Amino acid sequence: MKKLKIFLLISVLGLLFSCTTQNTKLNTESPYRKQVDSILNLMTLDEKIGQTVLFTSGWDVTGPSMNDNYKEYIKQGKVGAVFNAFTTRYTKELQQIAVEETRLGIPLLFGYDVIHGHRTIFPIPLAESCSWDMKLIEKSARIAATEASAEGIHWTFAPMVDIARDPRWGRISEGAGEDTYLGSRIAKARVRGFQGDNLSKENTILACAKHFAAYGAAQAGRDYHTVDMSERELRSIYLPPFKAAVDEGVATFMTSFNELDGIPASANTFLLKDILRNEWGFKGFVVTDYTSINEMIPHGYAKDEKHAGELATNAGVDMDMQGSVYLNHLKLLIEEGKVSEEQINSAVRRILEMKFSLGLFDNPYRYIDPEREKETVLSKHHLETARKVARESMVLLKNENHLLPLSKEKKIALIGPLANDEASIIGNWSAAGDRKGAAVSVLEGFIKKIGEENIRYEKGCEIIGGDFSRFNKAVEVTRNSDVIVMVMGEHQNMSGEAASRTNLSLPGLQRDLIKSIKKTGKPIVLILMNGRPLTLTWEDQNVAAILETWFPGTMGGHAVADIIFGDDNPSGKLTTTFPRNVGQIPVYYNMKNTGRPIDPNKPDEKYKSKYLDVSNKPLYPFGYGLSYTSFTYDVNINDKVFRPNSEIIVSAKITNTGDYDGEEIAQLYIHDKVRSITPPLKELKGFKKISLKKGESKTITFSISTNDLRFYDQEMNYRYEPGEFELFVGGSSDLPFTHSFELMELNK
Ligand code: NOJ
Repeated sequence: MKKLKIFLLISVLGLLFSCTTQNTKLNTESPYRKQVDSILNLMTLDEKIGQTVLFTSGWDVTGPSMNDNYKEYIKQGKVGAVFNAFTTRYTKELQQIAVEETRLGIPLLFGYDVIHGHRTIFPIPLAESCSWDMKLIEKSARIAATEASAEGIHWTFAPMVDIARDPRWGRISEGAGEDTYLGSRIAKARVRGFQGDNLSKENTILACAKHFAAYGAAQAGRDYHTVDMSERELRSIYLPPFKAAVDEGVATFMTSFNELDGIPASANTFLLKDILRNEWGFKGFVVTDYTSINEMIPHGYAKDEKHAGELATNAGVDMDMQGSVYLNHLKLLIEEGKVSEEQINSAVRRILEMKFSLGLFDNPYRYIDPEREKETVLSKHHLETARKVARESMVLLKNENHLLPLSKEKKIALIGPLANDEASIIGNWSAAGDRKGAAVSVLEGFIKKIGEENIRYEKGCEIIGGDFSRFNKAVEVTRNSDVIVMVMGEHQNMSGEAASRTNLSLPGLQRDLIKSIKKTGKPIVLILMNGRPLTLTWEDQNVAAILETWFPGTMGGHAVADIIFGDDNPSGKLTTTFPRNVGQIPVYYNMKNTGRPIDPNKPDEKYKSKYLDVSNKPLYPFGYGLSYTSFTYDVNINDKVFRPNSEIIVSAKITNTGDYDGEEIAQLYIHDKVRSITPPLKELKGFKKISLKKGESKTITFSISTNDLRFYDQEMNYRYEPGEFELFVGGSSDLPFTHSFELMELNK
């Protein structure tokens, strides 16, 4: 046995040297094909099946655990990949079993949900998206990969690129919000960040575009629920971020839990074969989500696990996450001729290619590096970057009479269940993030910034529950204060997986606490921590300032203090619409018009598409976010006619007209007025983030090409049509169109 292993490794190593600088663009033919085939030829069917099996190590289990005896399985060569295992000691222990105790010594692949940081936790992905800063988002993923890869991790189950238009769905916190264009840009930035420019470098890890597909469109925002939509909607709204990830060279894909048009995603050949492999040419491997092959039984799509395994394999699923279906049934399915061995060979090839591209055959322990772990994990640079990302992710929703920023001399009453919190502040899916210790609470951040003397703190109430016994103490600490800062929101477990809600107001007694405090007549600043849009209609009317900080991560408390006391100016813009109430959901900026839109001059007219009890407009629209300063826009367009083979150039001179230096996120929206498939009312087609000193002006330009005007027509061709288009450039999605042009060119 030993001899065989040694032979294998030597023959592989000989060929390896020419391949170790492989670029991350994985969509071309694999440079490892020969080495992979040489291994494949040595493998028994059982060993091949083993490579398609992914088990959790038992840590951080988020679903039913299929077996406790994974070490024994590794020893028997029945496992190709393990997730939820990290630390150098632990991954080394498991890797040693695979390398030294199995017949062929094929190294394990270690996966983990490194979603927004590994040890240094960054703001949740929804928050980061509000920075609209691709370089910063990429950097945050890069740092996450650097830390994770030092602790033995090779593969992250991120980015989640699901478009989400329903804030009841708790997983909205893990994505980039509601917009396809922005979501696609962010998908690319995150893939680049995790994978770097070369997967064979020891600080890069495989990324995984998930959850394929349309998971964010679960009916009624209930997690794992049915998804049913037209192919046009699927292609126009939900698929582009996945395609962007493929174009960026993403290494792996994860199927989603939901069914789509009656077929569970893990058996969906339309998604996995027709689109992913044939149309997009994806060359990496496809893993299921946690036990989603087994879940085809309750879906009513498979009669038993064996049947489910047959459906998944034949649809093109390469790896089974935690379900043991491939482990238990693939061999028999092949023997019975229901699945071909060639299909398993293809899956194993793709998996081994990734192990090669990471350099694991070169050195299976190269990602297990205690020295690098010590140097990189929670390093000063990582923490400083996390603080910056947190600041850039915050969105100022309201600031009456310029209450913010607060002077550092003010006496502050700091109140609320999240004010002294070091657990929720790092948010859901916070991987190996340290809650008690590294994480900085708002109280700590405030004390560091302005000293203890001017701060009085009281929790006031819990996040959930009905105990108002501390309300009096909270009122008491407001005495002698100039301003009241309340830190409220959701518990970190109220968003993320399996965390759907139907009531999106501040949970528990938090609003009641604000009501009691409001009686003091002192100005209230509300600092929010939450993983989804909340319904804040009452708060908007009753407090003076609102800062949305989401779950800002390890350095959250310092970042909040930086913004509140004016050491930085908020610049984040919403990437998800905040509804007035749950009844408005779904409400998103790029809706269609209907045949009976409201006439703004006659809002009460009957027989129009509206509600009797609430406006159609959301509370805070997509793209919205205030600054301590103000900006004006002077927009020009180079031509009213879009001529063949040319472009429309839109320029915007932006001036900082307020009293602070600041950053503005300028957004370009376009509206196709008439076309053969009804258009959305507006679509984001470009954005630029610029920094302007007080009084300064800068001119930015956007070029619009015919590619920006394409849509899926009746035959599902992606094309454009001549006609009139309107546009505007501004600091939010709810502004009027100011310019138009006529596209003369015919369809392409
Ligand atoms: C289930 C989640 O849906 C998925 O996003 C995650 O990567 C896996 N569990 C593994 O933890």
